[in-house]
Amino acid sequence: MKIIALGSPGVGKGTYATEIVQKYGMLHISTGQIFRENIKGGTELGLKAKGYIDAGKLVPDEVTIDLVKDRLGKDDCKNGGFLLDGFPRTIPQAEALSGFCEMDMVINFKADPEVIIQRLSGRRVCKKCGATFHAVNIKPKQEGICDACGGELYQRDDDKPEAIKQRLIVYEEQTAPLIGYYKEKGILKEITINEDFGNYKAEIMGRIFDLIENGTE
Ligand code: AP5
Ligand code: MG
Repeated sequence: MKIIALGSPGVGKGTYATEIVQKYGMLHISTGQIFRENIKGGTELGLKAKGYIDAGKLVPDEVTIDLVKDRLGKDDCKNGGFLLDGFPRTIPQAEALSGFCEMDMVINFKADPEVIIQRLSGRRVCKKCGATFHAVNIKPKQEGICDACGGELYQRDDDKPEAIKQRLIVYEEQTAPLIGYYKEKGILKEITINEDFGNYKAEIMGRIFDLIENGTE
């Protein structure tokens, strides 16, 4: 199965994707995470991407498309399913993707604007393994420490108020048009999740799995 997770910054794509790939034994390919790993490693790609990301802008299409084309060309993607988290994010990216890969399903995750801002401003990410927590909603067992690997938790540079504002504007202008694009192709499914993951994880994931398996929640 090949799935695209679509939706505004902070809606929960990464959080739900982690559970989806675990259940169905798929690969989780997050372009944002790949960029962050490259920034941490000081690679050429990381240096190219950092300025755009910290300012809340998109990394240019040609850089991102090449990156994903290369990743999907690897053996683990040729032989198994995967979930794309954060790609495509523009119409040119979606058109390029259709030239090298046929996707089965696009899930558009939705939440109310105030819920999204609250999720973004409280996010904490593990420096070591990238696992995501929330200062209020999804607390780690020990403050500041990752439950999964014991790494240190930090706030992403693009989760500062100015960058959040910019990312939400960029989303409306450049990414939201993909909803209509995939609706027209007949592979779009939508789900609204305002409920708190910390308290309603089983219910939330049950609805998402039903959507994937039966087409309805
Ligand atoms: P990326 O890392 O993809 O960021 P994004 O799309 O802005 O999305 P986020 O990761 O911020 O949100 P999410 O939906 O994954 O939410 P999460 O699960 O963490 O991209 C970063 C940057 O890289 C981009 O701005 C761009 O510059 C560049 N980039 C990436 N892909 C690109 C592309 N294709 N083209 C060009 N540039 C690209 O949840 C958020 C918080 O809420 C967490 O703390 C979580 O714990 C909490 N939470 C989630 N769900 C719930 C819930 N139900 N209840 C309570 N809390 C919840
Ligand atoms: Mg994410």
